[in-house]
Amino acid sequence: MLEGRHYVEPLNFTTEEMEYLFALAGEIEKDPLLFRDACRGKVLATLFFEPSTRTRLSFEAAMLRIGGNVLGFAEPGSSSAAKGESLVDTIRTVACYSDIIVMRNPKEGAALLASRYSDVPIINAGDGGHHHPTQTLTDLLTIRQIRGKIGNIKVGFCGDLKFGRTVHSLVEALTRYEGISMVFISPVELNIPGYIKTGKLDSNRISYEETDSLEKVIADLDVLYMTRVQRERFFNEEDYIRLKDSYILNTEKMSGAKKDMMVLHPLPRVNEIDIEVDEDERALYFKQAKYGMYVRMALLSSIMGGVNA
Ligand code: NCD
Repeated sequence: MLEGRHYVEPLNFTTEEMEYLFALAGEIEKDPLLFRDACRGKVLATLFFEPSTRTRLSFEAAMLRIGGNVLGFAEPGSSSAAKGESLVDTIRTVACYSDIIVMRNPKEGAALLASRYSDVPIINAGDGGHHHPTQTLTDLLTIRQIRGKIGNIKVGFCGDLKFGRTVHSLVEALTRYEGISMVFISPVELNIPGYIKTGKLDSNRISYEETDSLEKVIADLDVLYMTRVQRERFFNEEDYIRLKDSYILNTEKMSGAKKDMMVLHPLPRVNEIDIEVDEDERALYFKQAKYGMYVRMALLSSIMGGVNA
């Protein structure tokens, strides 16, 4: 269904195409060995110009588990980018050696640019503070698998809503489902950007509220999406230090939440979720990381045409 496609922004795929991926990821979770040859002989290049643990390793694990091979760099200092090579030249070159490219870059729009010049599909694994569409697949799959469907939920986004690309992508994707309302919980300096409010929420008549108090709204939420304050996108360290511990989710705050509220976090966590919360069965962020691998197995095999659809 998705053969040969780029994936740069969450809405590049229709809800039907996403549902196809979620269903496939569910099949893979049940019996991963059935898919062990889906990408036999294919080569994935992972080009990470910014740090990553889960995204890069889950992509690499995904490709290896479906029979493909992996090459790439995790450190731009070890690539010709350090010699001043342009992104376009790097992409054109790597496209000669691989069948699909996953890239992360600090510049907004980098993946879109790459997709215009690449002879092989480009998957955006994060472009600055803009988008991170495969994290959105991960987040939506987790909601779907736990709740049975995506829709009729109040989702709270807490933390750095200004720079958090996972938030921007998930908000945009959620606007296409029924019965979604959103609560944005952040210090005023880290509010969700105006272009998302007017361009994505108001224009789709999504109901939302903004607050700086997690305690005031936690009881109403079905999903709480916690995020890290994005230190690397701040212009000065003082602002980061002032804002970094704005919200810390702990067992006391959890006691005011619904019994089935899902706590999600794209990870890495710094201080924003106390480790005591990890024991709470509503804490789903490590399960979410595992779903990230399954949905990437589904994505790679679909784009590479390794599964029949
Ligand atoms: C996120 C990212 O890179 O945007 N991490 C991830 O991919 N799971 C979130 C973050 O870095 O805070």
